[in-house]
Amino acid sequence: MQKTRFRFLVAALAITTGPAASLVATAETTSQDAADYRESVMTSLKGHIGAASMHVRGLVDGPEFLLKHARGLANGASEIATLFPAGSNVEGSEALPVIWEQPEEFAAAVEKLVDATKKFVAAAERDDKPAIAAAFRDVGGSCKGCHDKFRAPKD
Ligand code: HEC
Repeated sequence: MQKTRFRFLVAALAITTGPAASLVATAETTSQDAADYRESVMTSLKGHIGAASMHVRGLVDGPEFLLKHARGLANGASEIATLFPAGSNVEGSEALPVIWEQPEEFAAAVEKLVDATKKFVAAAERDDKPAIAAAFRDVGGSCKGCHDKFRAPKD
């Protein structure tokens, strides 16, 4: 079990893209906690995108629920910039070192998802089916784009 506390200032993140991004860590947050928290947030994104995809494909109906999942994606996306404090690539993590080596590229990948999810929410608010489908593709593409570059491939 890794117990190193990552340093606060470092954790305030080179990759933070704006002053509004807040840090979720406390003085007690270990690197393992940071990695576990990240996994939980990412898993929530997976749940929302899976549910949203069923709406987009017309397998279920209920525009108000699609909107909730779109907002869930936007909420999670807004947190990603804070989820990768230095030192949080603990054993078992699939986060690649390139995240910390190329912070600007990583921040751009975060921003892509943030923008895509905002458009998805806007389209869902209007219940605009073609715009929903297009924005959904962009959301999925933004997840994949980041994973392809910044996450270790599965064996
Ligand atoms: C800016 C980069 C980035 C974006 C955007 C991103 N992810 Fe991730 N995601 C990662 C990285 C890096 C990991 C590996 C984290 C680790 O293992 O420590 C990860 C891990 C995951 C995991 C695995 C969690 C686990 O069990 O360990 C899931 C599921 C996931 N992401 C889903 C998504 C979905 C769905 C989206 C889009 C809605 C998304 N991610 C967007 C970078 C990103």
